[in-house]
Amino acid sequence: MPMRVALGVGGGIAAYKAAELVRALTSGGAAVQVVMTDSAQRFITPLTFAALTGRKVITSLFSSAGDEDTLSSSIEHIRVAQEHDILVVAPATADLMAQFSHGLARDFLTTLYLAFTGPVVLAPAMNTNMWLHPATQDNCKVLESRGHIIVSPGDGPLACGMVGPGRMAEPMQIAEVVLSHNASKKDLDGETLLLTAGPTREALDPVRFISNHSSGKMGYALAAAAARRGARVILVSGPVKLPPPDGVQIVQVESAAQMRAAVLQHLDASTIIIKSAAVADYHLENPPKQKVKKTAARLSLDLTPTPDILAELGRKKGGRLLIGFAAETSNMVAEARRKMETKNCDMVVGNLVNQAGLGFDSDENEVTLVMRTGETVQLPRASKRAIAESILDHLLKLRLALYASS
Ligand code: C5P
Repeated sequence: MPMRVALGVGGGIAAYKAAELVRALTSGGAAVQVVMTDSAQRFITPLTFAALTGRKVITSLFSSAGDEDTLSSSIEHIRVAQEHDILVVAPATADLMAQFSHGLARDFLTTLYLAFTGPVVLAPAMNTNMWLHPATQDNCKVLESRGHIIVSPGDGPLACGMVGPGRMAEPMQIAEVVLSHNASKKDLDGETLLLTAGPTREALDPVRFISNHSSGKMGYALAAAAARRGARVILVSGPVKLPPPDGVQIVQVESAAQMRAAVLQHLDASTIIIKSAAVADYHLENPPKQKVKKTAARLSLDLTPTPDILAELGRKKGGRLLIGFAAETSNMVAEARRKMETKNCDMVVGNLVNQAGLGFDSDENEVTLVMRTGETVQLPRASKRAIAESILDHLLKLRLALYASS
């Protein structure tokens, strides 16, 4: 059965790009039902979408006056909600995002949103100031916390004359996110993913520790996506403030040594290992049992290296696929490639962690995949959830390529 996409089109200049999105989705094998807001119909006609999808476009909550079948038209949004696998809104205007965030149900699209229980993808498009306004950013955070995927707007000249973030992501990019999110896709069925996420904490005494800014969001997004795609997932997690993803077995650890022990314990069961944790590189070997008292004297710490878990896995991985992460502040691709070679990984996900709004603790990321095949793939800036789906897609493709060449 084709993936069934409900596509909401909001009223913005980018509405014309929704026509291209429809083409990209249908050529990817999806069946698309378009729902237009009133203002969207001022930018582009329903006829365009009807011609592209071969289906009547939904333009209002109630059928036109005089329609004898008022009951069926009043529950149409429930039917559309039940009969579609994914809800995509492109362009998602500031107003639509505010309505979704607050649960308003004023027209067909906002009512459909409330009735819909499946995955939601939003592609915002608006003027830079509107996008950067705290109200819009707050709404965005609320929508992301509900698990929706935000395909971030790009940077560039806008119809209003401003230059900056706000233009809708390219239709092909949105289509890729949607198609890779096929809820019925169970391409990790039969796999056991061993994942690590979050920071580690290395004790200095019973009350103090060394750690880093890792939030665990990338690893948790990978765990959630892999579980949704049918894998058994064992998530070895450092201390983070995230709820455990559905259907994932969590093993809580604190230190690098504990993480190593947990990973080695579950190594045999795994078929794919992803090490997204930001493991401390140094620790205090025998931390004092009592709290260190403050004195006037200077205090030096004599730290020793922690076990390099990834390198050890590289030696013990056998036929498993091993994916490492490289958080860098410069020379990212070269560093990722070096780590791939020295630690015997099949893929290293490199990201720069000194860019505003990206990397540690942010909801978005922009990563480059360096692969054993020699291929390097740069994924555009997107939510960690969307990046997680792409990493899993590439990892499966990589395994096929490695099999074919072995
Ligand atoms: O060399 P670097 O620490 O930057 O490598 C990062 C990668 O190595 C990550 O995948 C991280 O999870 C892993 N790592 C590890 N054990 C360490 C340090 C890092 O497994 N002690």
